[in-house]
Amino acid sequence: MIRGAACLRAFAAVAAGLVLTACERPPVASVQTGFRGTGMEQVYNPRIVAKQVALNAAPAAAGPLNDEGPKAKDVYKNVQVLGDLSVANFNRHMASITQWVAPEAGCVYCHNAADFADDSKYTKIVARRMVQMTQKVNSGWQPHVAATGVTCYTCHRGNPVPQQVWYAPPERRLAANSIMGDLAGQNIAARSVGYSSLPNDPFTPYLLDAKPIRVNGTDALAKSGAARNLNSTKQTEHTYGLMMHMSTSLGVNCTYCHNTRDLLSWERPQRATAWYGIRMVRELNNDYIVPLTANFPANRLGPKGDVAKVNCSTCHQGVYKPLYGAQMAKDHPELLSVSQSKPSGGLPPPLSEAMRSVLYFGVGSAVLEGEQAKGLAELINTMNSTPTVKVAISGYHSASGDLAFNQELAKQRAFTVRDSLLSAGIASERVVLEKPVQAEANLQGEDPAARRVEVMAQ
Ligand code: HEC
Ligand code: HEC
Ligand code: HEC
Ligand code: HEC
Repeated sequence: MIRGAACLRAFAAVAAGLVLTACERPPVASVQTGFRGTGMEQVYNPRIVAKQVALNAAPAAAGPLNDEGPKAKDVYKNVQVLGDLSVANFNRHMASITQWVAPEAGCVYCHNAADFADDSKYTKIVARRMVQMTQKVNSGWQPHVAATGVTCYTCHRGNPVPQQVWYAPPERRLAANSIMGDLAGQNIAARSVGYSSLPNDPFTPYLLDAKPIRVNGTDALAKSGAARNLNSTKQTEHTYGLMMHMSTSLGVNCTYCHNTRDLLSWERPQRATAWYGIRMVRELNNDYIVPLTANFPANRLGPKGDVAKVNCSTCHQGVYKPLYGAQMAKDHPELLSVSQSKPSGGLPPPLSEAMRSVLYFGVGSAVLEGEQAKGLAELINTMNSTPTVKVAISGYHSASGDLAFNQELAKQRAFTVRDSLLSAGIASERVVLEKPVQAEANLQGEDPAARRVEVMAQ
């Protein structure tokens, strides 16, 4: 009996402990941000801040930049975005993303170790698109990220999957017309809305779709038909769900962005920054992440088969500026502007000079496509405007693969060009066909420049 009472007491002590951990132990400090007595202040707990500071230190940059030497697109086989970087800076970038995204697995998290040009791992495809996404954030969303910008580390922090992402929550089984009514995801105490009883998915409507967030009614009457006032309590609850997310993501109170005397006012500059943030997040999700869904393995998808998406916490992680505003991006100029470089696996632009035209073909193809077809049209124009000129056509083929097959292909390519000239009305005695030529051996493997037809004026 005595033992039983002791147990109870111990249980009560533990239970009290559990209850109390939900509250914040004093002291709690505050900083005034507006007029005295108006409640414009930020309340914070120094212990939580101290912990956050440790979690939000930016890692040091990997070595100095070096623009000298050949470009990545001239040395590597399959560089589609970062081809204009020097090889030194390209390798520095590879070292950085390894540290930021996959420090444990290393290069093989994205690469087939036997062939770094191989694109068979989904992680490499995703990473390539992530480079473009990061470039877009830094160059296109300065009203939000300013000069501070972001790197892969801002979201990933050394993890392949960022720790703070969102999926659409599973459908609840309660039907809309059940005795409980349509819960709209309420009363679940979800983390997404700061454990409040608000609708638990403020993300799908606002950070994927562009449903109206500003629902404060300016009209007292409900009305009906087309004029009915949709700024109802229900819509407002969704807005408040998003606001809880934004506040917890940044570790701030509502007064960081609003003077709560007038929630509609834009007097706090942080509210405008946040407005851009909402639009930026929508773009990242819709233009970059959702289109990658089919690349991800099933174990990376959410309960509804959707990919992990970005919200305010993905970058901010509880802090008003990610990494307390550490200026990391400036050490990585490769992530500051959108790359315009031509993919190394793609074809060089067609060449049309007075005495020489060069047209390029895809692997195994004898058809001129896109830009190359325009190069052919230009050749026809030149020949029509200078009727005395004769041309010799040579098909080139790459040094790799079966010789007989390659020679046949080179011949077909030359035929393509000759036939186009003839069908454009150019006399056949002005066009001479030469023997197929093997292009110079290329140690870097399959070289698009080798798959060409040269047309020399005589
Ligand atoms: C997070 C994914 C990721 C990690 C980790 C990674 N890479 Fe890459 N790597 C890529 C992507 C994406 C490309 C293609 C870049 C492009 O298309 O602009 C690439 C391309 C390359 C290429 C060019 C290959 C070719 O011939 O086309 C080399 C070389 C390379 N990486 C080396 C490395 C090394 C060495 C490491 C480890 C220090 C590494 N990478 C780690 C994603 C990664
Ligand atoms: C705005 C936040 C954000 C930034 C910046 C960002 N990523 Fe991501 N990344 C994500 C999200 C969200 C996912 C999807 C998570 C998943 O894999 O399910 C993801 C997934 C990935 C994956 C797939 C990982 C896996 O195992 O499924 C790779 C690889 C990756 N990112 C590389 C990069 C690289 C490299 C950069 C920088 C050039 C970068 N990311 C920048 C948010 C970001
Ligand atoms: C990080 C800045 C930020 C924080 C923190 C924030 N809000 Fe907002 N709030 C906004 C922005 C931006 C909008 C307008 C969104 C839009 O139009 O896309 C908005 C809109 C609103 C609206 C609708 C106003 C209207 O014009 O109809 C209400 C109500 C609101 N917030 C309440 C709150 C409450 C309550 C909190 C605290 C739980 C809060 N907000 C925290 C930035 C913030
Ligand atoms: C891609 C990463 C990223 C995402 C996602 C993101 N932010 Fe930011 N945010 C930043 C960066 C970087 C800064 C710092 C800019 C600066 O130094 O002025 C910032 C600054 C801010 C500021 C200004 C803070 C201040 O004191 O000046 C607000 C407010 C803010 N973000 C709100 C949001 C909200 C709300 C969301 C979600 C809708 C969001 N952010 C999503 C990267 C991000």
